[in-house]
Amino acid sequence: MVRQVTKDFQNIESVKGTLELPGDKSISHRSVMFAALAKGKSIISNCLNASDIQSTINCFVKLGCRITRNGNVVTVEGRGYKGFTAPESELDAGNSGTTARLLSGILAAQDFKSTIIGDESLSGRPMKRIIQPLSLMGADIRAEAGNFLPIHFKPSNKLIPIEFFLPVASAQLKSAVLLAGLHLEGITTVIEHETSRNHTENMLGLSVVEESGIRKISVSKNNYPSPFELFVPSDISSASFFIVLGLLLKNSELIIKDVLLNETRSGVLKVLKMMGAHIDYENVKVNQGESFGNLIIRSSQLKNVHIPKELIPNIIDEIPVLSIAGLIAEGSFEVRNAKELRVKESDRIKSVCSNMQILGLDVEEFEDGFKINGEISNSRHVFNSFGDHRIAMAFSILSMLLPQGGSVLNFECVGISNPKFLDQIKSIAG
Ligand code: S3P
Repeated sequence: MVRQVTKDFQNIESVKGTLELPGDKSISHRSVMFAALAKGKSIISNCLNASDIQSTINCFVKLGCRITRNGNVVTVEGRGYKGFTAPESELDAGNSGTTARLLSGILAAQDFKSTIIGDESLSGRPMKRIIQPLSLMGADIRAEAGNFLPIHFKPSNKLIPIEFFLPVASAQLKSAVLLAGLHLEGITTVIEHETSRNHTENMLGLSVVEESGIRKISVSKNNYPSPFELFVPSDISSASFFIVLGLLLKNSELIIKDVLLNETRSGVLKVLKMMGAHIDYENVKVNQGESFGNLIIRSSQLKNVHIPKELIPNIIDEIPVLSIAGLIAEGSFEVRNAKELRVKESDRIKSVCSNMQILGLDVEEFEDGFKINGEISNSRHVFNSFGDHRIAMAFSILSMLLPQGGSVLNFECVGISNPKFLDQIKSIAG
């Protein structure tokens, strides 16, 4: 049991300096998983060291892989095609949706029984979205009320490839189907109308055919991974908290090193630039299909803009911190077409709206978004994290921007994606 911590923040005048942030969470999860699938030794450097990734590592250790960590370098002895051993107990995905959903795709194709469990938040998140297509492929899966963890898998020898239209822009759903398809001779195809993050197809080198905005991603056993060595670029989602802080404080300049710039993930930079942000790039490189580079962030005057619908899947994890930028920026902040926010680590529409109401703001909540208007009241506020790491960090950034500071309840949940958040803030705060 992690101890619950209320964290108090004082106002910060400015930030200056250089930040080296941990590896991207989505790529770190996939690196460990794909290395576990490959037969032999893979080495992952700058692999995120946070509880979500530890959940993935623990699951694959239970499946018979030897995985060791030395600082940010993770070494995985993968088991090869159908080489995992049956786990002796349940596989615990903790708080991590990526672990539960991607692992489901892998377990659906194994010749042994297994069960995935998770914490309270993850146990309330929808799994029907993956159970449906995996069952269509012939997998033998049972879940609580057909939709929730625990999910039980039984061996199924009759898995068949499918062609699947993604009903929601979810990279976790897309990846679950692709990872089951990775075990089959025939070709499985996932078709997406809205582009979700593309790390699974990038890292496995899958064929992607793009025609008039529709992407067809195909996979078969031919794409089964071999061992690799990989540097994980720094997490753009973790960087976005520091980017917003650096933009909104006066006399500030930050360099954030080797940040992931993948075009399906960097929408947050696009939106902030549309809002008038001074963001420059330096030393941009491409390595194993992922581009990354240094970001230079300078104090800016931001103005709210219309956020286009097609950017929503790209910025879905950054909306909480974008709402903080929007709150301080000129004009009112509005986000729509973002219903998926309701099924994240918390209902992020409710979480943001409820914290904004604490500030005395005029908040309109919609099924698929929210609108914020008005003046922040002058007293010191206590925000709720709702046990959600991105809500905790977003409202800690706001607390540091307010003259009176602020506090965040259950701040310990930042460990899910960035346990060093406070040290990083200390290193740049003036
Ligand atoms: C992720 C996909 C997104 C994102 C999550 C990580 C991934 O979820 O919100 O933080 O690594 O594939 P959805 O696939 O549910 O949209």
